[in-house]
Amino acid sequence: MKKFFKILGGVLGVVVLAVVGFIVWVQARGIPTYDKPPTPTTAVAATPERLAMGRSLVLASCVDCHMNKQTNTLSGHQMLDVPQEFGKLYSANITQDKDHGIGNWTDGEVIALLRTGIGRDGRYRIIMPHFVHMSDEDVNSIVAFLRSDHQWVQADPTTTPAQEPSLLVKTLVNTVMKPTPMPAQPVVAPAPTDQLAYGRYLIVGRYQCYECHSKDFKTNNALEPEKSEGYLGGGNHLLNEQGRDIVSRNITGDPETGIGDWTAGQFQQAVKFGMSPNGPLSAPMPKYSTMSDEDAAAIYAYLQSIPKIKNATPEDKGAVAAK
Ligand code: HEC
Ligand code: HEC
Repeated sequence: MKKFFKILGGVLGVVVLAVVGFIVWVQARGIPTYDKPPTPTTAVAATPERLAMGRSLVLASCVDCHMNKQTNTLSGHQMLDVPQEFGKLYSANITQDKDHGIGNWTDGEVIALLRTGIGRDGRYRIIMPHFVHMSDEDVNSIVAFLRSDHQWVQADPTTTPAQEPSLLVKTLVNTVMKPTPMPAQPVVAPAPTDQLAYGRYLIVGRYQCYECHSKDFKTNNALEPEKSEGYLGGGNHLLNEQGRDIVSRNITGDPETGIGDWTAGQFQQAVKFGMSPNGPLSAPMPKYSTMSDEDAAAIYAYLQSIPKIKNATPEDKGAVAAK
């Protein structure tokens, strides 16, 4: 018996040492820095089409996180909709200010960050999504807009506070949250006439609906989105700015728990204006108000074509009425 306890003590000692060692390592590494990814060297040309598309994409995919309501510019704010256990995190100032924003970044450096998550200084950016499958044209449109004379991106001297990530976030960025590679080939969106392929592109490339609408951010597969657990079957737990738990919904074609029994018109109202047959939708579901009706129809057709998942989300249990 004595021997048993001695061995057990020894094993525990090793485990404790390993855990302590890991914590010390994670604390020392903090948010990791990586080699700079291959960075495009040509500046993005601003065409009227790109500026219009860029505004629409920034409104859909950046404003919720980067808008500073006091200054009406994209100079950032504290992220109140990340779990408290993550520490104190801030979205960055991405206006044209040279000292406090991204006025000194080259277009290529912005593109590299959007693709990989690695900043111009090599530091990995936390929480900031990576746009892995977005077409080069859409990425260029975003960059053209960030360089435009629109009010949202004018130089604003608001300083982004230093991030105060918790040990949990430091552990995540040293284990599961990793940079994604720069695309090796040009990324071209399918033609809108190829409706299903185009609908898929909108879901995984342009708007990344699958990130929120699959089971969990932690089991999403950035390189092969369809391999994300519970692909588009909902159930991912998100927070709103008041820190309330909001569960994403099943948007596969399952007639009972998904949107199989919806019409294309109902779907369009939900996605563009937040009016679902189940009642009004709340943040963090974005309102895609500038999305064209054709794009909404392509997304709807694609969603009806993918494998159906039976997964009841809160609105299926009448919870929506309580909101
Ligand atoms: C879910 C919230 C979220 C969304 C959506 C988001 N960002 Fe960010 N972004 C962040 C956070 C948080 C940081 C700061 C991360 C850090 O410093 O580690 C950041 C950092 C950045 C930076 C780096 C700035 C710097 O000085 O370090 C750029 C550029 C940027 N975002 C651009 C964009 C663009 C463009 C979009 C839309 C296409 C976008 N972001 C969408 C949260 C978000
Ligand atoms: C930032 C996370 C996020 C993104 C990105 C997102 N959604 Fe949502 N979506 C949600 C959440 C959370 C809800 C539930 C809102 C509520 O409870 O009020 C929701 C609800 C919905 C609903 C209502 C379903 C129902 O049964 O009532 C539809 C449809 C929908 N989203 C489609 C989409 C589409 C299409 C996209 C991409 C173009 C998208 N969402 C992108 C988080 C997101």
